[in-house]
This record gives sequence, C-alpha cells and structure tokens, in this order.
Amino acid sequence: MRIGILTGGGDCPGLNAVIRAVVRKAVTEHGDEVVGFRDGWRGVLDGDTMPLDVPAVQDILPLGGTVLGTSRTNPRALEGGEERVHSTLARLGIDALVPIGGEDTLGVAGWLAEAGVQVVGVPKTIDNDLDATDFTFGFDTAVGVATEAVDRLKTTGDSHHRTLVVEVMGRHAGWIAVHAGMAGGAAVVLVPEQPFDLDTVVGHCLHRFASGRSPVVVVSEGARPADGSLTTATGEVDAFGHERLGGIGQWLAEVLEHRTGHESRAVVLGHLQRGGTPSPFDRVLATRFGLAAVDAVHDGASGVMVALRGTDIVRVRLADAVAHLKLVPVDRYAELEVLFG
Ligand code: F6P
Repeated sequence: MRIGILTGGGDCPGLNAVIRAVVRKAVTEHGDEVVGFRDGWRGVLDGDTMPLDVPAVQDILPLGGTVLGTSRTNPRALEGGEERVHSTLARLGIDALVPIGGEDTLGVAGWLAEAGVQVVGVPKTIDNDLDATDFTFGFDTAVGVATEAVDRLKTTGDSHHRTLVVEVMGRHAGWIAVHAGMAGGAAVVLVPEQPFDLDTVVGHCLHRFASGRSPVVVVSEGARPADGSLTTATGEVDAFGHERLGGIGQWLAEVLEHRTGHESRAVVLGHLQRGGTPSPFDRVLATRFGLAAVDAVHDGASGVMVALRGTDIVRVRLADAVAHLKLVPVDRYAELEVLFG
C-alpha cells in the first residue's frame, strides 16, 4: 500500500515517535511505501511531500517537534480545497491517509473519510482535551515542564516573599493546570471550565503567606474571572476560528500584588510546554498509536482514530472523537480545590 502521513495543528512532543513507528511497521511488516506530507493539510493541498523510508526515520524517536512540519491550514475553509486534496491523493496514488492531529486536523480527517478516503487518525495535543481517548501524547511532557516550573518558582517565591503566577496552555480545557498544579502543590489553580472569584483567590494567597510560604498560582491561558472583568482575546483568529489568547497571568499578578500587599511576578510558559524531547510515557504512547494505526489501515478500517482506553489501544469513530472537547469535570476540580491555600 501507499500510505500518506501528516502532522497538523500545534506541534507536540511525540509526533516523530508516531511517524517512526508507522514507517517501521508499514515498511518492514507489510512492504508499504510511506509518503510524508509537509506542513499538515497544506502539504496535501499543494502535493508537497517527502519520502519516508526506514533510514529517514532513524534517530527521530526522541526528537521534539515534527520532521514533517505542521500548519493550521484548513482545506475546508479554502475555495476548491476538497478538490485539491482529492486530486493530490489520486495523483500520488495514496491508498490510505494517517493524519496526526487534534480536534481540528481530525475534523478534516473525518470529513475526508465521509468523502470516501481511507483515513485512520492519530490523536495528539498537549492540552489532553480530545474526547474518546484517556490521554493524548504530548500532555505528559507538557505537565512535566509545567511542574518543574512550579517547583522552581516556589523556591524563588519563598525567598522573596512574592506571589508567582504561572500561566500554562489550555484555551478551553485546564488539564495541564490541574495536573501541574496538583503535582507541584500550587496554592491556587485556575482553569477555563471554572470562572474564578477574585476574593477567593486572594484569600488562598494570603493564607499561604500566613503559613510562612509564598503562593504559586497556576492559571490556564483560558481562565477568566467570574465577574467578566477581563477579556484576554487578542482579536486574532486562526484558520479554524480559534481566538489567540494572552494576558491572564500578567493581569492576575498585578491584581494580586495590589490586593495582597505582596510583590507578584508572572511567568508565561507558552511554547516551552510544546518543544523538546517527549517524556518516556509520551514516547511509548505515541509509538503504540503509530503501530495501531498501521494495523487499522491494513484491516481496512476508515473514519476511525486510535485511542487509549485504560492501558489498551482501541479504535473509536472520528466523529465521536471530535464531537466534544474533554473538559475538566467539576469533581476533578473539587478534588484539587481542597488543597488550595
Ligand atoms: O492546541 C494546542 C495549543 O498548544 C494550545 O494550548 C494553545 O492555545 C495553542 O496551541 C497555541 O497555538 P499557537 O501555536 O498558534 O501559538
């Protein structure tokens, strides 16, 4: 078979591990040819490819980013996009496509599957907000980076008797904040799912100061005060309609300084959470996803995504995977709230 593979949306640690696993298994076990499309759906639209044989994927397992490049190009938003995609796939003789991506990339994948293309998706996002899989690779690495940041900020915060606010990624889902906040023993964790009350946050910070320590506050980029007193949308929107966010960390640090009487500083982790080598957990998950995707292709499956359920890799319908975002449930947040202050 001739299998096309692409990585779309924001990059994430583990993408290269999937690419390597797909190529190694497809080539050595099935004698397939694997064609890499550069920069996500942009490469499919333009027919921009690179050959992927076993030597081409040597040593890429621990490498961050994606050797294929990525983009947020949305063929559905472009005039004639669907025809261009079909014409590239036909011209290159692609029998099956393995798109690796989040909600947006896999949304396009589901649309192509409905149009008759054999598609097996692989979920990725550091945000861990894709429904139908227990975890996406990239998340564990991002949580590791964020937890290390909390640990480091704690010691400098304590030394200077300051509040340290650390802003982490998560536009709609606060998974990184919840995990890093719990792992790092943050004084407060704020997530997009639960608009926060500023007086309560101030109370937790003062309580931490009263106990002789300084608070670290972990805040998702998409978190908001409940009174609607802040908007962090920059006005910029990507090809999938997502607003670019920014500013909650700095805003909060300024307000907390004023309200607690203690100096505050903000740190925005941003793309540090997305770059660099994947954790062992993410390498293993990404590799297992890649191997399972090749199995699915050879079983003739289409319109599906490989997913983690417990410790098993299963197949779920793409349509189900992208129907809802997996948000932090109220009880998960409540579990953490007990530890605030
Ligand atoms: O979707 C993953 C993600 O890392 C989000 O957490 C974040 O809001 C966004 O990508 C940032 O995107 P960009 O790479 O366009 O800055």
